[in-house]
Amino acid sequence: MNKNFLNDFPILRGNMNGQPLAYLDNGATTQKPESVVRSICGYYGGCNANPHRGVYELSVKATKIYEDTRRKVAEFLNARPQEIIFTKNATESLNLVAYSYGLTNLHAGDEILITIAEHHSNLVPWQMVARATGATLNYIYLAADGNLNEADIAAKLTKRTKILAVTQISNVLGLINDVKTLAARAHEVGAIVVVDGAQSVPHIAVDVKDLDADFLVFSGHKMLSPMGIGVLYGKKKILDAMPPFLSGGDMIEYVEEQATTFAELPQKFEAGTQNVGGAAGLSAAIDYLRGVGFEEISRIERDLTNFAVAELKRLPYVELYGCDSTRDNKIGIVTFNIRDVHPHDVATILDAQGVAIRAGHHCAQPLIKFLGQTSTCRASFYFYNTRRDIECLIEAVERVRSVMHLD
Ligand SMILES: Cc1ncc(COP(=O)(O)O)c(C=O)c1O
Repeated sequence: MNKNFLNDFPILRGNMNGQPLAYLDNGATTQKPESVVRSICGYYGGCNANPHRGVYELSVKATKIYEDTRRKVAEFLNARPQEIIFTKNATESLNLVAYSYGLTNLHAGDEILITIAEHHSNLVPWQMVARATGATLNYIYLAADGNLNEADIAAKLTKRTKILAVTQISNVLGLINDVKTLAARAHEVGAIVVVDGAQSVPHIAVDVKDLDADFLVFSGHKMLSPMGIGVLYGKKKILDAMPPFLSGGDMIEYVEEQATTFAELPQKFEAGTQNVGGAAGLSAAIDYLRGVGFEEISRIERDLTNFAVAELKRLPYVELYGCDSTRDNKIGIVTFNIRDVHPHDVATILDAQGVAIRAGHHCAQPLIKFLGQTSTCRASFYFYNTRRDIECLIEAVERVRSVMHLD
């Protein structure tokens, strides 16, 4: 029997539109346990000061919270502390790589390879950098089961590929890509590998050394932490050779009238006052996740996913996407449409029944187009969800067509 996580998440015990809340939009952001909220309040209530700048006790305490969190994140990902850069979110981390590494290292004739299943955050920055450098942006498309098309990988990962940027788990299909194998193949042709871990780091154990990722990004808010803190992991040797992305206070060594030398890692990439409250929350979130354990998190989410898919498959008017993988690599996300009903109508009808799901293109328009759709419904789970939440989803879905006077 699961620990009753709901005790730690008062918001999940609440109502929406007068109905018990079934929060199934965890792919967008997760709820925060009380320990995380306490940690943020404790920082602002007890030791708020600008980190790295003061010699007085409060500032030293703020610096310690910030740097201790960096060490904790490093250990969490199996990296070194200098390899952990704090950012606002996964999007900023990806922009940092695209602009700092991409603009410096890409030239006309080079190729950037991504998949059609990328979130816009791992797509638009590469379009921008391709345009600025004359590089070409190529796509790996999907096989019928939603997994990456093997023939496409073989044809497109070539000596011209300088960057392979790939999501570890698709935010629409919930399919886990075999990033370790992809990284090994990319390294064979001399490409560097950027892993979008926004949907994986919160849900499965991620070891950057084992994956041999050159860069990996994630957002704190999708794993119990507050919004406004994200992480970029990068191999030290690569980060050392990259120019700063943002410049200003804190990222410098010496500034003269016409020139500046830059701080060592990680400060070189952390310009301006940093989000210590966010770091305090992220630290508590990692503690919480470790307390649950990733084996347990994955087990719960797979169970919920399988249950939801099986229940939705029973309904003849529901079309599911990415639910036919035979590789047992689906976790946490179920995307579907209801015949003849627009996803926004579905989400609104579910909202009235206390069920929070996402409708739209999920910041992955090229993927939605590839699936032959303009938008879809997405239910996304976290370990604190229960089978009861899925039952609420199914009951609400079963009512949609009659509310729309289609049955
Ligand atoms: C796979 C993936 N990558 C990147 C992002 C961007 O995350 P953020 O908006 O926190 O920067 C998301 C957010 O949904 C995502 O699902």
